Amino acid sequence: MKRIAVIGAQWGDEGKGKIVNYFARDYKWVIRFSGGANAGHTIYIKGKKYVNHLLPSIDPHSDSKGFLSSGMVIDLEEMLKEVEKMESDFPGIGKRFYIDPEAFITLPWHREQDLLLENMRKKPIGTTGKGIGPTYTDKVSREGLKIYMLQDEGTLFEKLEELYTLKIALFGDKFSMNPKEIFDYLIELRDKLLKLGVNLASSIELMANFKENSLLFEGAQGVMLDLDFGTYPFVTSSTCTAHGVISAGFSTAELDGVFGVIKAYTTRVGSGVFPTEEHASIADIIRERGAEFGATTGRPRRVGWLDLPAIRYAKARSALTHLIVTKGDVLNGLDEIKVCVAYEIDGAERRTPVVSRDLFKAKPVYRTVRGWNSVKDKEFEDYIKLIEEETELSVSYVSYGPGTEEVFER
Ligand code: IMP
Ligand code: MG
Repeated sequence: MKRIAVIGAQWGDEGKGKIVNYFARDYKWVIRFSGGANAGHTIYIKGKKYVNHLLPSIDPHSDSKGFLSSGMVIDLEEMLKEVEKMESDFPGIGKRFYIDPEAFITLPWHREQDLLLENMRKKPIGTTGKGIGPTYTDKVSREGLKIYMLQDEGTLFEKLEELYTLKIALFGDKFSMNPKEIFDYLIELRDKLLKLGVNLASSIELMANFKENSLLFEGAQGVMLDLDFGTYPFVTSSTCTAHGVISAGFSTAELDGVFGVIKAYTTRVGSGVFPTEEHASIADIIRERGAEFGATTGRPRRVGWLDLPAIRYAKARSALTHLIVTKGDVLNGLDEIKVCVAYEIDGAERRTPVVSRDLFKAKPVYRTVRGWNSVKDKEFEDYIKLIEEETELSVSYVSYGPGTEEVFER
């Protein structure tokens, strides 16, 4: 397949980074189309662990390139850290990254505002504190800073002064850097990134290249955290569905496949509704075995059972064509496994939520299935078949460990 998207079909952390890394060698471009440094994509390259937040998960050993599209919000400080770390192991890799000048910049002010807002909220969202919400807020309210402004220092400084005036009027004198300090900070980061060879190029400039080559669109977070269709307001501030590929100049109709990555169970980090959440000690066991701690914040993830209505919902919202199941091995050795096959909503049984509000009212209807000792066992295959029957999607790949090679195709 020449053009595919790999997205999370739950609440994020499904193992997309690893899957993308597995596919990446066969794709010329890996394109991130939404989110920012809130994402945590853990990949292992030759046994060494890399946790990237912003950089597309390109395979360093191939000649693939990474594009950060206009739908993203870019924290230049974080970006520099990641490029420097990759550069120390793979010299020259910096030149393989391209940022769309239309993308927005996350400033230290945005990170500070994220925390200020969380502290003021009656019901905190449990954000990653990376300034994502405030950056997108400034974008929508037309106060944002675009990457291309880094190329015009006069305008950049003027914009920063304007933004600062507004921010202190709204939040008081609570920010650690003044416009001049932020300006110097941005210019220094810009220069360092450019020195490492990072490119600025829009999707229009790259389109001829995109059309000729294979593209892998790498989603961030998961459909249930999508700003429009997720469990609002406990969501992130960007699109998590495959439709976000529009920001790189494509529509989902131009893709050969949209792969929804799901774990064999469910996790969620942060607050908000989670119908199949498990509170018994089995959740602690799964959390420990599955290393279910946030890749960005280190927070313990909430753990629960596989939620098929939520996956049917993700399929409908994000044009999924295939599923990829990860972490079935984490459940090895359990006698019985619960699977949510439907919801009870307002006293009636429903297979698929039709509006995000349904998730808030849902009581899971469980089926109990036999566990397995290994993902090679018949019981695990039965589990996969159950997922296929219940979602009417084929499970094309199964991942059974963190290493890039620990995947089989079905
Ligand atoms: P924000 O994206 O930092 O604003 O956080 C909003 C919500 O999305 C919180 O519940 C976060 O825990 C969640 N979130 C953001 N990024 C990720 C991710 O990469 N994986 C899982 N949850 C995430
Ligand atoms: Mg993650």
